[in-house]
Amino acid sequence: MKILFVCLGNICRSPSAEAVFRKHFAYKGVVAEFDSAGTADYHVGERSDARSIKHAEKRGYEMTHLARQVHKDDFKNFDLILAMDSSNLSHLRQICPDPYQSKVQLITDYCSEMNVSAVPDPYHGDVEDFEHVLDILEDCVEKVLQIAKK
Ligand code: 4NP
Repeated sequence: MKILFVCLGNICRSPSAEAVFRKHFAYKGVVAEFDSAGTADYHVGERSDARSIKHAEKRGYEMTHLARQVHKDDFKNFDLILAMDSSNLSHLRQICPDPYQSKVQLITDYCSEMNVSAVPDPYHGDVEDFEHVLDILEDCVEKVLQIAKK
């Protein structure tokens, strides 16, 4: 299974998702491929935000991704494309070819415990906002794992 995570800048939320999911899937022995991309091109080629890297490292996640913009081939190449918020979702739905629309989903639809409808953008936020991103992502892993196992 190939999963693409998508946010706006591809330096905070989606590369964090990639790191969180990669580690949990490996721990459970479930084989999958992960990548992330942004709907915008603001940070293409850059490493992830230093704050995201720091908070992820504190929980044992490694972030090595270089930012890229989502590309139309992604819709064919990935099995599941998970948007971080409704704005990312609507952007993706607008550019996604019809046959692949069902691949494009909101990541928080896979939450287990938390009752949230988005992974909020932490870019202009503080420490708690970066921790909140990781809390939500960790809460979504289990249900996606169940799908990937099928
Ligand atoms: P992300 O956060 O979408 O989680 O990567 C953002 C990063 C940068 C910007 C916006 C959101 N920006 O406007 O530069």
